[in-house]
Amino acid sequence: MPNITVLPHAELCPEGAVIKARKGQTLCEALLAAHIEIEHACEHACACSTCHVIVREGFATLDEPDEAEEDMLDRAWGLEPCSRLACQAFVKGADLTIEIPRYSRNLAKERKA
Ligand code: FES
Repeated sequence: MPNITVLPHAELCPEGAVIKARKGQTLCEALLAAHIEIEHACEHACACSTCHVIVREGFATLDEPDEAEEDMLDRAWGLEPCSRLACQAFVKGADLTIEIPRYSRNLAKERKA
């Protein structure tokens, strides 16, 4: 089972964590299973960017993002070359290190505000 090292995030994971993931699981599923409550406003439908993560190590081991994911990523706060949507990135056999950005852009919440 690959390990996912989650770098510290002030609210979601203040100390950082190393969690186990199953091959074939999405990063989002693995985080939620480990009680790291990453936002996932569209429920994994590739229709928001709230599950944005930056893959600091192991990025090249993931499948390439498809066009729909690329389009959604363009709306993410703090986009980087190794950014992914956690609900669209499937864990392979390799260990990963990820960072959950400090902010997410939740258009649904912004509209209500
Ligand atoms: S939860 Fe909306 S794109 Fe991942």
